[in-house]
Amino acid sequence: MQLNLAAFIFDLDGVITDTAEYHYLSWQRLADEEGIPFSRQDNEQFRGVSRRDCLEILLAGRNYPEKRVQELLVRKNNYYQDLINEISSANIIAGVLKLLKELKQYRIKLAVASASKNARFVIKKLGIEEIFDTISDGYSVKKTKPAPDLFLHTAEKLRIKPAACAVVEDASAGIEAALAAGMIAIGIGPAERVGKAHYRFDLPEEINLSDIIKVN
Ligand code: BG6
Ligand code: MG
Repeated sequence: MQLNLAAFIFDLDGVITDTAEYHYLSWQRLADEEGIPFSRQDNEQFRGVSRRDCLEILLAGRNYPEKRVQELLVRKNNYYQDLINEISSANIIAGVLKLLKELKQYRIKLAVASASKNARFVIKKLGIEEIFDTISDGYSVKKTKPAPDLFLHTAEKLRIKPAACAVVEDASAGIEAALAAGMIAIGIGPAERVGKAHYRFDLPEEINLSDIIKVN
């Protein structure tokens, strides 16, 4: 199947860069400090999910006062920011730059749509800010993934109809959001996680554009 696509919208953490691992390490550290059971496996549910929603999942019904909740959110973010302070273009996942350049050659619009409030900082650190036509982040909309809002907002900024947009995502919540937005979903990761996508690849470097887009 080949499609007439006008825009590619990329998730950031776990698609463009390996920061999904840093989110995990920060949650693990917080959970250990709080004596809350947490594992790499549990972290799979945190992909694409907002910081606050991740904490709700972690607390699993434990009734913490709001002040304490806020303190935990700040602490997790401090751990995460310590880690992303050190990143550079070396943290861009293999194949991503080649893919972005190829898409640009085809005059396809490029965007980032990330649930992260740190997305702009990360993109700057990676040195790829200039490549994108627009960037949406954790501040852009109220309802985060799996709601379609972030992707619809991004398509609107690009002035491109949702049906002409493809979304590249590593999170189950992100694939759900892309499908709810009426966009083509390209999943990166195992079928258990992104199997509902129209296309699935284990790694970004395996994406073969000529199978997906119509090249005029
Ligand atoms: C998403 C990550 O990109 O951003 C989630 O996949 C993370 O794991 C979310 O929780 C929010 O990030 P931040 O930087 O605002 O805490
Ligand atoms: Mg992601």
